[in-house]
Order: sequence, then C-alpha cells, then structure tokens
Amino acid sequence: MKYNFDLVVNRRNTNSYKWDQTKQLFGDADILPLWVADMDFESPPAVKEALIKRAMQGTYGYTIRSSEYEAAIVNWFARRHGWSLEPAWLADVPGVVTALSLAIDLYSAPGEQVILQSPVYNPFYDVIRLNGRKIAESPLIINNGRYEMDYGHLEQLMKQGAKTMLLCSPHNPVGRVWEREELQKLSELCLKYNVLIISDEIHCDLVLPGYKHIPFASLSEEIAAQTVTATAPTKTFNLPGLQSSFVAISNRELKRRFDDRLKMLSLHSMPYFNVDAVTAAYNDGEEWLDELLVYLQGNVQFAIDYLERHLPQVKAIRPEGTYLLWVDYRNLVGSAEEIKDLMFKQAKVAFTEGSIYGETGLGYIRINYACPRSVLHEALERFCRAAQTKVR
Ligand SMILES: Cc1ncc(COP(=O)(O)O)c(C=O)c1O
Repeated sequence: MKYNFDLVVNRRNTNSYKWDQTKQLFGDADILPLWVADMDFESPPAVKEALIKRAMQGTYGYTIRSSEYEAAIVNWFARRHGWSLEPAWLADVPGVVTALSLAIDLYSAPGEQVILQSPVYNPFYDVIRLNGRKIAESPLIINNGRYEMDYGHLEQLMKQGAKTMLLCSPHNPVGRVWEREELQKLSELCLKYNVLIISDEIHCDLVLPGYKHIPFASLSEEIAAQTVTATAPTKTFNLPGLQSSFVAISNRELKRRFDDRLKMLSLHSMPYFNVDAVTAAYNDGEEWLDELLVYLQGNVQFAIDYLERHLPQVKAIRPEGTYLLWVDYRNLVGSAEEIKDLMFKQAKVAFTEGSIYGETGLGYIRINYACPRSVLHEALERFCRAAQTKVR
C-alpha cells in the first residue's frame, strides 16, 4: 500500500462537525464519534498540495470554473462509471442536499407527493417537508438479509399521482449498490408514469470491490431526460467541508430552470479553493481511492467478524457501497432510548441511532467505518463491552 490509512489524525479542536460536537450532541466530550458520514483519513496528497498552493497565494478573490475543472469531472465519470457527461449539463452547488431541495422546489408543485425509499438519509424527509410537499414513503424490503426496492408499492404510489421521486444510489444507510436490472425496472416505472427522478449519487465512487455503480441517467437517453443527478467528489475524497457538489441535467429546459434559480440565489460563482482541489482530486486521486476501497473492505470484514465473535446478538448487514455499516440490534435491546443510553452513556461511542432515517430504521444503528482500523476496533470494543451487561 502506498497510502497509510492506519494513520490516526487528531481532529479534535479543528471545528470538526464530527469530533467537536460530542459534548453538545451526546453529552460527553470523550465519546468516540463514528456517526456523520465524514471520513477520518487525510485526503489524497494531490488535494492537500493544491490547497496549500492556493492558500499560499494570499489573495482570495472571486473565482472562475476552469475548463480543466470541467474536463476533470467529465473524464472521471467516463473512466470510472462509463457515463458520457457533457459540460453543458453541469451546474455547481454547495451541497448535494442544496440540489435536492432546489430540484423539489423547481420541478414539483406545493402539496404534491414526493417518493422516497425508507430507511433513508434523513435530510430526504426535510427537503420534502420543508418545501411544503408530502412524503410518499416506500419502505425497502429485506430479502435474505439484503434490501430491495418494492416495485409493486412504488407503482401504486405513482398510479396515485406521485410525479417526483428521490433516489439514493448507492443507498445510505443500508449500503446497497443498486444493480442495472433493479434501476432498469425503476426507470420503466418512471417512464410509464412520467415521474421525475432526482438521483442522489454522492456515494457513487464508494463502491466496494466486486460491485459497480450505474448512474441512473446513463440507462437511456429517454430516462436521462427526466433525471436530475446530484453528486460530488466530497464523500469520495473527504472534502465535505469545501462544499463542492454539482448536478448533471441533460434535459435543456430543466437545466435552464436550474441555472436561473442558481442565478437568482447568487449561487453561481465558485468558492476560491474548490476549482483546484476538485481538479486535483479527480485527476490525481484515483490510485488513492482504489487503495482506500481495499482498506474499507478490510474494515467491513473486521467489523463483521468482531461483532460475530463478541456480540452475536446483533446482526450486521454486509454493505456493497458507502462506508456505513447497518446493524440490527433488536435481539439486544428493545428501544431507541435504550440503545442511545448504551452507546452514549455506557460505551462512550457515537454510532447513529437508526430511527432518524425513518420508522423502518428503528432497531438498527449505523456505524461509519471510514476511520483507521485501530479507531474502529476501539469503538467496537467499547460498544461490545458495554453491551455485555444487556445480554440476557
Ligand atoms: C445520501 C447523501 N446525500 C447527501 C449527503 C450530504 O451531501 P452535501 O454535504 O453535499 O449536502 C450525504 C452525506 O452524508 C449523503 O449520505
């Protein structure tokens, strides 16, 4: 391995959302945080070098999007995902959630139903509700320990009039990387009922060895015409603090409306550091990412083996992508309050309690395993030791 993912970087006292809020959020500053989807690894060296170079320049003026930046994005998606993007389809946004919210506001009407598949990343609920739309929830089905879409239920919601759907691909928190056939089936329903898909593909590059991400809009030109894809290099290369995401919209009319809205909100200029950092990540971060994915695969195996050996009462669902492990604790304790007490007060570790992802997430916790193995080991050890007192 060329890159050292075992390196523990001290992130406390850096205004870290993940590390410096444990007291306020969980009641104790010494809690080990494995919750929010933010990695504890250093970004690729090329990114750090690009940022240092920009910082050293000393004038921090308005910044333009370079043709190298666009080419870096286009080449990355062609190379990694076999998706031919055109620069004209792209628009920059601070966050993927910003894009989801704008798309709901722009392309659906107040009071309309927007479909989501639960359990899902909690801001999906917020962007629907806070835009004055109604949540049309289609729970995923667990089949032999693997989550699947419920096409019958999705069709029912579409038949009843839902014209917009938020897709999470790969899916946070359950770790599914949707297969081509599954997406194809969904796209047929969307075409039949004229449903616009807003596809959150922020985890597209975090696909474990042996799996493949299929961009929803790459399925066909027909489905691309009713798809808004929101994605980013931020999860992939650990840059979420840069706030650098983008949308890809091939439908010209939808794209024009999106661009107009960005202009209206004056969100159309680039943050100073982002052009160079993102260009460096996509052009020079590929080898780092491939090694990272192998390391993450090792963490998954380590965590699953550790839990099987030390706490067989809980059952981890093997992830195919993301860096999030979804664990069923229903044979250990009975309520969200009990698991929170066990994590935060007794074990001094913060995993995410699953009901924030919807009622179907109750009984599960989400563990962010994008950290050095020693940190993961310590967190699991703390949790399993405290959990022993609950074993009947
Ligand atoms: C599915 C999903 N979408 C969006 C985000 C956040 O994206 P952003 O910070 O670009 O708004 C996350 C972060 O955890 C996520 O898991």
